[in-house]
Amino acid sequence: MFKTIELVNGKVRMLDQSRLPLEVRYIECTDYTMVAEGIKKLWIRGAPAIGIASAMGVAIGAQKIRAKDFEEFYSALEPIFSTMMSTRPTAVNIEWAINRLKKLLSTKKELSVEKLKSLLIEEAHTILEEDIEANKSIGRWGAQLIKDGDTIITHCNAGALATGGYGTATAPMRVAKEQGKRIQVIADETRPVLQGARLTAWELMQDNIPVTLITDNTAGALMKKGEINIALVGTDRTAANGDVANKIGTYPLAILCKEHGIPFYVAAPTSSIDFSIASGESIPIEERDSLEVTKIWDCQIAPDGVNVINLSFDVTPAKYVTGIITEKGIFKPQDLKKLHERTSL
Ligand code: MRU
Repeated sequence: MFKTIELVNGKVRMLDQSRLPLEVRYIECTDYTMVAEGIKKLWIRGAPAIGIASAMGVAIGAQKIRAKDFEEFYSALEPIFSTMMSTRPTAVNIEWAINRLKKLLSTKKELSVEKLKSLLIEEAHTILEEDIEANKSIGRWGAQLIKDGDTIITHCNAGALATGGYGTATAPMRVAKEQGKRIQVIADETRPVLQGARLTAWELMQDNIPVTLITDNTAGALMKKGEINIALVGTDRTAANGDVANKIGTYPLAILCKEHGIPFYVAAPTSSIDFSIASGESIPIEERDSLEVTKIWDCQIAPDGVNVINLSFDVTPAKYVTGIITEKGIFKPQDLKKLHERTSL
């Protein structure tokens, strides 16, 4: 099995997802600016994975700082924090990871600069390991929702590639398969960048989970024929009221599910829940280059100069969400506040 991202010998090594599945190549980032470039250019993508990448970026950036005390060290870190924060706006995991590092540092002001540097490396490793554990737990909770013989629809890629490993939306599929349930997955291709076709199909095939690829506009027809039992997707940021930002096309999928009486579940590690915002209205939505829409890789598919709207994410209102599968249990959107109270996240 591939490794999405790792921190080895002071370098951030990531699987280049922009060329998958045609080329399987790893990129070694020697500098935090290269990690930031990788996040922007989608060498690495998926909310938890870019959170981890940001923490690793800070950790390797910190190693090059020359400072005599905590204050000097921290002020040299500030531009690294803001470079990471400026890469992609929708996934809250970047902010979450950076805040976690800041909080850690603020409790260790007495340590030497060299110790602080090692601490950041250790914490980046811990963030990666905890993410994989959280996903496995999401898998155990979520598998309870999957019955033998179910067909599951998913959108974009919320798999191992989008996380430290194991995936969020794919985790219940993996556990269900381990439990011997016969499942099938329908993967939306997910225009414009085709994360479903290129990434979800690729990784599920490696795991021997039966996967069928459809164009984004096919889901309704399959639902009408009764061929889909449950939807499982990921999220880039879920607001305190359970509104869910995820890859563009998630919202229409959720409406289709409602219309056809199909449960619509969101797999969200708590690092993807933003309790600081009341509703999805305040979630920043990334707009990306029009070339992603007018071209597929190098092949132009639209006339020169055409106007394009390329919203990378949409917000599914909580009323369409059956439940949110976290590593701490499954919550109805309106019950997310119980999770908040319980964990003081
Ligand atoms: O633009 P991307 O590929 O980073 O978008 C990714 C998604 O929308 C995922 O569904 C989301 O980040 C959840 S990944 C566990």
